[in-house]
Amino acid sequence: MSEKSTQVRLERLGAYPFERLKKLFADSRPNPALTHIDAGAGEPRLPLPEFVQDVLNANISGFSKYPATRGNAPLPQAIADWLKQRYGLKDIDPTTQILTANGTREALFVIAHALVNPDADIKPLVMMPNPMYQIYYGAAVTAGAEPYLLPCVSEHGFAPVLDDISVETWQNTALIYVCSPSNPTGWIAGHDYYARLLELADQYDFYIVADECYSEIYWQDKPLGLLEVAQNLGRNDYARCLVMNSLSKRSALPGLRSGLIAGDANLIARFAKLRSYTGSATPLPLQHVAAAAWSDEVHVKRHLEVYRDSLKAFFDVWGEGDVPAGSFFVWLPVKNAEVFAVAAYEQQAVTLLPGSYLGAEDAEGLNAGAGFVRLALVDGVEKAAELADRLKKVKV
Ligand SMILES: Cc1ncc(COP(=O)(O)O)c(C=O)c1O
Repeated sequence: MSEKSTQVRLERLGAYPFERLKKLFADSRPNPALTHIDAGAGEPRLPLPEFVQDVLNANISGFSKYPATRGNAPLPQAIADWLKQRYGLKDIDPTTQILTANGTREALFVIAHALVNPDADIKPLVMMPNPMYQIYYGAAVTAGAEPYLLPCVSEHGFAPVLDDISVETWQNTALIYVCSPSNPTGWIAGHDYYARLLELADQYDFYIVADECYSEIYWQDKPLGLLEVAQNLGRNDYARCLVMNSLSKRSALPGLRSGLIAGDANLIARFAKLRSYTGSATPLPLQHVAAAAWSDEVHVKRHLEVYRDSLKAFFDVWGEGDVPAGSFFVWLPVKNAEVFAVAAYEQQAVTLLPGSYLGAEDAEGLNAGAGFVRLALVDGVEKAAELADRLKKVKV
């Protein structure tokens, strides 16, 4: 079967991290004396923002209409308004520079299929951080590209390292995924990092996809966005840039399946074309809820306080290490992540994720996720403190 066949590409992908976790725990039982704490999945578990029910009720008749692929009024405009107020953008056109998405997971996957040309003479590379949100890897492989892994290690503050990459590698790169704030490490891209990437993208002709889903969850400084940096460098058309963001984290609405794609109009047009064949548009009543969520910062501020308090509570009890700059994840160094994860489950009824499941082996055989576990602080402040207390008692 040809290397190009979809079946061969799919076979290259391993099981998704949570499937691997199920297997790891197959012969284990959580300590029955304790209530289970699930710090494995990054699923916010905060109360539903109060406006959701009312907006849904007011727009329920929209279920009897087909929604548009590009999104219907008022959602694209609400997204444009949010991007302007959040990042100080002077101009972003909701009809050509914005698309709505049924969650960014879908969008992050499909974008590689829209932007990578697998029929090129040389197999195109898709760069991504290692460890990473696994969708980038799956997207690159199924789009017929070769993932090129950028190690994110503590010596570099967990930034995906851009040094020592050969000219040939850059020349073969079709696109790069950046995740800022990062799941799982909490690293945040600064102005210089994004500026350097833009310079490289111009020099070597590739695209930048910035996954900024955790942009509203940060410890101290509000994260910069790629579009903002592009504008500050005079790139008012956001050439080569696409940004993805989501209501799953900022608004704690993962079940709404709603996100945004914004940036370069040419890339948006390519994505929209592919999506007109593949994608299901977001149901109208849900688009109205999404528009309301992008238009309200009160609930976002409330959520941020809970996440910050949870991080503080965790580290107060844990007693060492640095609070991550962004996201609600703790990226905890441990000797043997799988052994630690099983012990935490059996002894303390805690589910967490071995870091290697979020990484992949690079050309040197290094999985930069190994030696860490990821904890998601998504259950409120008390549980975060209890989680640290329980993990301190784990014996391996
Ligand atoms: C880094 C990152 N990007 C994207 C997503 C996808 O979010 P959604 O599809 O809910 O918008 C997630 C979800 O966990 C994530 O961690």
